[in-house]
Amino acid sequence: MYVCICNAVTERQISQAYCEGACSLRALRERLGVAGCCGRCASCARDVLGRCKAEQAAEAASGNDFVPTPSTVDETPA
Ligand code: FES
Repeated sequence: MYVCICNAVTERQISQAYCEGACSLRALRERLGVAGCCGRCASCARDVLGRCKAEQAAEAASGNDFVPTPSTVDETPA
């Protein structure tokens, strides 16, 4: 699913960027341009980051490495 229409950034790209260390909206903006134009995607991008963080915490609690799952990389059109 596209999160940022202005910059054609998908949820999958955000999840990948999170895995590579972009764990804040500012970092996403610097890396992918998210929320750098109209800003309407900021809330959705934060939600994606929140899901990534929750999933990472759950993986850490289970002793596994964080790997994005379909719930964080859904590419279904909105
Ligand atoms: S939709 Fe992301 S900056 Fe406009």
